[in-house]
Amino acid sequence: MRPELRISEDGSSTLYRADLDEHYHSFHGAIQESKHVFIEAGLKKVGSKSVLNILEIGFGTGLNALLTMIHQPDSLIHYHTLEKYPVPEDLAAAINYPQLLGGDEVLRCFSAMHTSAWGTEVEILNHFFLTKFQVDLCDFNSKTKYDLVYFDAFAPDKQPELWTDQIFKNIFAMMAKGGFLTTYSAKGSVRRAMQNAGFVVERIPGPPGKREMLRACRE
Ligand SMILES: C[S@@+](CC[C@H](N)C(=O)[O-])C[C@H]1O[C@@H](n2cnc3c(N)ncnc32)[C@H](O)[C@@H]1O
Repeated sequence: MRPELRISEDGSSTLYRADLDEHYHSFHGAIQESKHVFIEAGLKKVGSKSVLNILEIGFGTGLNALLTMIHQPDSLIHYHTLEKYPVPEDLAAAINYPQLLGGDEVLRCFSAMHTSAWGTEVEILNHFFLTKFQVDLCDFNSKTKYDLVYFDAFAPDKQPELWTDQIFKNIFAMMAKGGFLTTYSAKGSVRRAMQNAGFVVERIPGPPGKREMLRACRE
């Protein structure tokens, strides 16, 4: 189950799980996809609040956390992220995002994200606080009201148990009013599961290689 390190078409690293025949990102470009789906369609939509509570489903390579830290320096961010299968540290150290996205400070932050303890809040940078939970999404609950959710599990055909009405109901209950959830999937069954959970859902243009994606709002 150890993932393989690969290079996607924009030159950025991604991981591949042979047992699932699944990449962690679009092979058209990992950084390109994360910027489009989570930063542009999610973080920029929420805007620059003074304090931002973010929940990520699937920490994986740490790309979404790193991009969020870089792109929202004016908010105090509490970033909670769930991961059932942590990436081994030697593999994380071979990922090239810090080299592509910044200098020594970005590298220090990225390493700190991967080596930080699980289950406790850690200051990565003065505005960015990370809490990693080593847990199955199905067992996760929190009293935090999240302004933004990055739903970045493996695809619905690989992990159908994570894209259900019940999962989205649980997430809906953990979100602040006016909060957004974004995901790369545009599947009709996913959209319906979100709607059944109470979200108002829109289809918006997807990243290169994907016509559409979904953005859901807890109105
Ligand atoms: C599509 S990858 C994206 C990971 C990450 N956001 C990134 O950019 O590298 C999906 C992630 O969800 C994690 N995952 C799979 N099943 C999970 C579960 N039941 N609960 C929590 N995380 C899970 C995987 O291990 C993987 O890291």
